[in-house]
Amino acid sequence: MRIFLDTANIEHIRHAARLGVISGVTTNPTLVAREGAGDFKAAILEICSIVPAVSVEALSLDAEGMKQEARKLSSWHENIVVKIPVSEAGLEAISVLSRENIKTNFTLCFSTNQALLGALVGATYVSPFVGRLDDVGHQGMEVVADAVEIFSRYNLPTQVIAASLRHPLHIIAAAKAGAHVATVPYSVLMQMIRHPLTDIGIARFAEDWKKVVKQ
Ligand code: G3P
Repeated sequence: MRIFLDTANIEHIRHAARLGVISGVTTNPTLVAREGAGDFKAAILEICSIVPAVSVEALSLDAEGMKQEARKLSSWHENIVVKIPVSEAGLEAISVLSRENIKTNFTLCFSTNQALLGALVGATYVSPFVGRLDDVGHQGMEVVADAVEIFSRYNLPTQVIAASLRHPLHIIAAAKAGAHVATVPYSVLMQMIRHPLTDIGIARFAEDWKKVVKQ
């Protein structure tokens, strides 16, 4: 399972990329807005210079608008993946865009049927929103596991991104469910690294080594 960073924060992206653990970034309008107003295209191009897959959301609601926006966004950089929300218009747009080899991420996916339809129209990725499903009392990770199983059974090349992940246990569950990618908030990535016993172990080794050096 690969890890993408779910953020538009350039410092966090740079840091995670230096660690060598991320192979992509997913953004959405909320995450971009969190970084404040600025030159959106320049920010996306900077992210594209750091990681090989960068999801950017199309905001049109009709198929024609989605296609035009996707063509424009994907012309900015070869690393751009256009996020298109689940809808009839989204399906119509992706069926055309996939034939034009434009990479897409079928987003705001909350059911296995939605994920299956995304794969059938040739989306590069589908993104089940695990945490938001958990929030309303469903087992979000079941959509991930079911989509992975179905895509594998029918040799559908679409990859499943476990999205809306909120804590480290979500990442383990995504990996066990066979997700191709987990898109992870920066704070959760940091939580994945840390363990108090590691910190205690490092401190104890450093202390003990001082005794060796004294001899
Ligand atoms: O990439 C979009 C998704 O991960 C959103 O997460 O926490 O807003 O449900 P969240």
